Amino acid sequence: MEKQQWAEEAWQRTSSKIKQMSEAIGAGFPHASQNGKYDRTAASAWTSGFWPGLLWLAYREEQDESLRQLAEVCEAAQDEALDEFTKLHHDVGFMWCLSSVASYKITKNEQSKQRALKAASILAGRFNPQGSFIRAWNSYVWRNEEHNEGWAIIDCMMNISLLFWASEETGDARYRHIAMRHADTVLKEFIRADGSVYHIVCFNAETGERESALGGQGYSPDSAWARGVAWAIYGMAICYSYTKEERYLRASQKTAHYFMANLPEDHIPYWDFRLPAYEGAPRDASAAAIAASGMLLLSELLPADQGGMYERCALRLVKAIDRQCACYDSGNEAIVLHATGSFPTGKNIDVPLIYGDYFYAEALTRLLGNSGSRQMFW
Ligand code: GLY
Repeated sequence: MEKQQWAEEAWQRTSSKIKQMSEAIGAGFPHASQNGKYDRTAASAWTSGFWPGLLWLAYREEQDESLRQLAEVCEAAQDEALDEFTKLHHDVGFMWCLSSVASYKITKNEQSKQRALKAASILAGRFNPQGSFIRAWNSYVWRNEEHNEGWAIIDCMMNISLLFWASEETGDARYRHIAMRHADTVLKEFIRADGSVYHIVCFNAETGERESALGGQGYSPDSAWARGVAWAIYGMAICYSYTKEERYLRASQKTAHYFMANLPEDHIPYWDFRLPAYEGAPRDASAAAIAASGMLLLSELLPADQGGMYERCALRLVKAIDRQCACYDSGNEAIVLHATGSFPTGKNIDVPLIYGDYFYAEALTRLLGNSGSRQMFW
């Protein structure tokens, strides 16, 4: 079937499911679906933006006012975390790009802009000038991470979109400078020669020197966590879209090549690309969805003769999700089954995760054909 027709039909299935989800979920912060039903997390959780983001995507395409109203209630509920402040971390990018930046881009709501600028300032405040990186998390004694002031993680490549947006919105270059310095550290310290990436790199927070790397949500420090590679593909493409600096484009391509070359035949990646054995290992369909949307952006940024391969791979990824992982009926509140949150800590293995749903829907809206003129929320 022709690409456009397939995308339109897949989007129709997905937008009907989002409407169905909106009736079941209402306003709140779903994270993982267990036994067919989404649980709820706190406003300060890194995933609190994905449900409003999904609602905004569907509202932008379908103009259903009930979806917009729910997205606005979710956004207002995030204020608790913004005002409380101390529980916030670098994922304020994920959280407020998909709620407040989305709202502002679609409705021009000034309060949404203010919320997103506050979140951007919090993110900028986490920059370590000695090491040129953005600190990921706060210290969690319960997680055995008492001294993580010097930890940076690959996921932050998505968060820094908020800084690029803030610079464009305010005319203040400092946000962009911080984003680029962090991205340059990622080029140097996270992306390996073969295009795979480290999840966590630990720097000395005083001197800024790199000390070690950790496996984090991946199999080992030297492995290749599938979602981490997807964050790198997408985040570097976003960096290039804002800066037009070729080094970011090349990094997005290089990580995309690693991702493509290591996919299994059915195109749904195992949770890590470097497992000692794959037999029975859980998949991570969220990584497929993120990589698909990132590769579609990458293809838009390149001339057609160079971008085509990324678009074709993205299409294979979303078709594989549609065929093997999607639930469009009421059997599960979620859309994308078979994602893996954190295998090493035993959390959310082979379940639907709200970000899998979000990036699958986002990739489909990119495929609808006019995403260049339709602004994404990053
Ligand atoms: N940002 C956390 C994750 O990808 O699981």
